[in-house]
Amino acid sequence: MPNRNIFVSSYFCIAVISALECQSSLSSIYSVFRKYSDTTHFFHTLSTFLFIYLFIYLFIIAMLEDRGWMSQVHLVLSESSSFAPSAGDGVCVFKFSIGPETECCRVGTQSFLITLGCVSVLLCFRTRTEFNAFHTMLSTQSSLDKEQSAFDQRTDVSSARQYFQFYGCLSQQQNMLQDYLRTATYQKAILLNEVDFRDKVVLDVGCGSGILSFFAIQAGARKVYAVEASSVAKYTQMLVKSNHLSDRITVLAGKIEEVSFPERVDIIVSEPIGYMLLNERMLESYLHSKKWLKPRGMMFPTFSDLHLAPFTDEQLYMEHYARSSFWHQTSFFGIDLSSLHSAAVDEFFKQPIVDTFDKQILMAKSIKFSINFLEAKEEDLHRMEIPFVFQLLQSGLIHGLAVWFDVAFVGSRTTVWLSTSPSEPLTHWYQVRCLLQTPLFAKAGQTLSGTVLLVANKRQSYDIHLSAVVDQSGFKSGNTLDLKNPFFRYA
Ligand SMILES: C[S@@+](CC[C@H](N)C(=O)[O-])C[C@H]1O[C@@H](n2cnc3c(N)ncnc32)[C@H](O)[C@@H]1O
Repeated sequence: MPNRNIFVSSYFCIAVISALECQSSLSSIYSVFRKYSDTTHFFHTLSTFLFIYLFIYLFIIAMLEDRGWMSQVHLVLSESSSFAPSAGDGVCVFKFSIGPETECCRVGTQSFLITLGCVSVLLCFRTRTEFNAFHTMLSTQSSLDKEQSAFDQRTDVSSARQYFQFYGCLSQQQNMLQDYLRTATYQKAILLNEVDFRDKVVLDVGCGSGILSFFAIQAGARKVYAVEASSVAKYTQMLVKSNHLSDRITVLAGKIEEVSFPERVDIIVSEPIGYMLLNERMLESYLHSKKWLKPRGMMFPTFSDLHLAPFTDEQLYMEHYARSSFWHQTSFFGIDLSSLHSAAVDEFFKQPIVDTFDKQILMAKSIKFSINFLEAKEEDLHRMEIPFVFQLLQSGLIHGLAVWFDVAFVGSRTTVWLSTSPSEPLTHWYQVRCLLQTPLFAKAGQTLSGTVLLVANKRQSYDIHLSAVVDQSGFKSGNTLDLKNPFFRYA
């Protein structure tokens, strides 16, 4: 497996307080002690000795720095968490491993002291940015930040691992980039509101390939901090370098909940959108990032509308039901499977269906549930109850609720919309449909009321609880669905 090379140019200052030094210091002290039996005299001599020792030590450090001997180095973080500072010519000058037991502490604003056995290494960074990047790497490997981040608290380890592995693939980044409507709308939103980016400091949350960071630069941003938790960050770094933007885009490998920056930002850009808007729970990371936003700073996107409408689709319902008919067999290689049929039906009906449809199947005007990213807090997204009352425009069987979303970029010049509505060109988010366990018959003019309850889970997704009643007949139905495990029905 190739090394994860994270280059942090720094002034490398090795203050090796080695065993040798300790030993010689101790033996000197011991000899002084033996020579002077008078304690006052002893302590006077000892303090003089320590003072001289410290003076020589600082003098040597200053001299090394002056002569440029504390050269610029690269720190390489390998998969095995081994750090190898090397001189500008690539020669490794020191190598050590970081693990949960590694003792390290921050010294001043730009240095780290790392103790390895009886050797201590002082790393003095040239800039706060480099220091922060190193701090982030260190904190993911060592016990430096023992308390769990907001991301870790709300996410199962296995879910996070799988999630970031997925986004670590260039093919997945490519899928998103190739969603022309998505990518072009982001660029349009940023460039049409150039005035909000010109000479500004921008934060790109979950930058992936860095595309939004590049758009921010195209709009004249002075500085962009691009944060990415998956291993794709190394490729983003390569793109930044090959596009000659290393001085304006700083890529930080890590979770937004765990990295830190040398300054606050004017505007945050992100594409934190999953199926049905909420899948992946990345919106919470987006909201979390507001801790770095200046007062009156901007968020791109600024708000979102989740739309819901009842639909009729007999074919979809039958098809979905038929998927479980396999478990109806009473002699599958001589085995009766039918006792599992109802469990199979339950399992299949838990799957929201991701595909597209003709808007003709919608039986009422949609209702919307808005989330304002400037105002919302992460906790607001943990449990969302959406009450609805639909005025039915046609008679027939209601098979479930269709869901789609729009996001808006509210800039100083203009507001740009990115829509996943069935009446708009298709995006890679498609639309999502949640089936009712039993369809409900209703007539035009009647009302369907109920709630959609969205409860966040630790698998970076939501449990969807549907309950609905035709008010005039009292017919009721409902379902509980698992957004993490949708059924992809599109051809
Ligand atoms: C939907 S993709 C968008 C990528 C890119 N911004 C674009 O528009 O093409 C979301 C990206 O955010 C990253 N991500 C998700 N949660 C994150 C977090 N908490 N901190 C940092 N990156 C995160 C993912 O690894 C993924 O690359």
